[in-house]
Amino acid sequence: MNKFLSFIYIYIYIVPQGTACAAGTQNRIHIYRLIALFIVCYPTIIGDYPVIGILDSPITRFLKSSGIDKKDTMIPSSYVKFIEYTGAHVLRIPYQANEARLDYFLKNINGLLFTGGSQLVRQEKTKMMSEYGRKVKYLLKKAIEINENGNSFPVYGICNGFSQIVCSLSTNDTNICDVLTYKHHKAERKKIQFTHPLIQPFSSMNKQITDRLQKENQLLFYHSLYLEPKFFQQNRLLNSQFEISSQSSNYQDIQFISSFHHKNYPIFADVFHPEKAAFEWKPNYISHKKESIFFSFYIAQYFIEQASKNSQTTSEELIQDFLEFKEDATLLETPTLSYQSIYLFKYNSTYLQ
Ligand SMILES: *[C@@H]1O[C@H](CO)[C@@H](O)[C@H](O)[C@H]1NC(C)=O
Ligand SMILES: *[C@@H]1O[C@H](CO)[C@@H](O)[C@H](O)[C@H]1NC(C)=O
Repeated sequence: MNKFLSFIYIYIYIVPQGTACAAGTQNRIHIYRLIALFIVCYPTIIGDYPVIGILDSPITRFLKSSGIDKKDTMIPSSYVKFIEYTGAHVLRIPYQANEARLDYFLKNINGLLFTGGSQLVRQEKTKMMSEYGRKVKYLLKKAIEINENGNSFPVYGICNGFSQIVCSLSTNDTNICDVLTYKHHKAERKKIQFTHPLIQPFSSMNKQITDRLQKENQLLFYHSLYLEPKFFQQNRLLNSQFEISSQSSNYQDIQFISSFHHKNYPIFADVFHPEKAAFEWKPNYISHKKESIFFSFYIAQYFIEQASKNSQTTSEELIQDFLEFKEDATLLETPTLSYQSIYLFKYNSTYLQ
């Protein structure tokens, strides 16, 4: 921001006065102004990138027998690549961190991603919200506050992240998640129906791509919690804040909401997996057709554009953390899971408070 202000100052006051006597022509003044723009803004252009926090998650139950500490956490590497290929940087947000620590992380990032996975929203036995679910709820509440205060702060939920956002918003701890219905799931590639007209994040999508995705089964769905349109319409907390941006139907012909977007803020979620189209290869049901890849990049770019509007800066201490991200974490090849690889983070209580 300071660089921007100094640019305006140079542009309006210094350059015209300095150049008016030297040259006198409009063209030359214009060139000098451009040079000033370049000198002042160059560090900003090369140094600036949004920083996206990705909330880590408990290790999947498939890893629990492999000698990994139960308290360790993970992020599938495809989500990290999905953010990094836009030019943004990733900071891990440990879900086990206390609220004060989460506040600190929130001040140092420009947007937040909730990944897919099998994180519980509530404990099966007690019906109480899981620790992960409580942290999502807390972060989302804070993210909305940042937006309300006029600083754009995007939040994007994928698959499990979609359910977590629904649960955080629509209910309280006692009736949590009643709008979501559980159905037996099966990984499948499906079509999508966008709204007419398109709404965000799809408003600027190329028509050839939307046409293709509406006709061909290309998007990967792999979920067991469904938000059916009628339950969305009946729930005032949801429908007063969000708009449906697309729907799909599953192999049992159940219509469900496949994405939605907040009416006022860049908070959005989808049930399909854009990160897998570009970065996961193992299961042979993932489409790598060019429309799927364009679509994936389009959504990532939309997210990062919103994050670029956020003016928060990252502290030097945390910049170190994300530069060292890959050394602190162990990158595990996970041939038995549906991920090529995951980042595994050792439990460290000091880092959480
Ligand atoms: C929270 O749950 C209780 C009990 O089900 C209900 O009476 C109350 O209206 C709920 N509040 C919200 C905001 O949903
Ligand atoms: C745990 O986190 C603290 C605080 O960030 C750090 O100084 C320390 O080196 C970490 N310990 C290990 C074993 O990584």
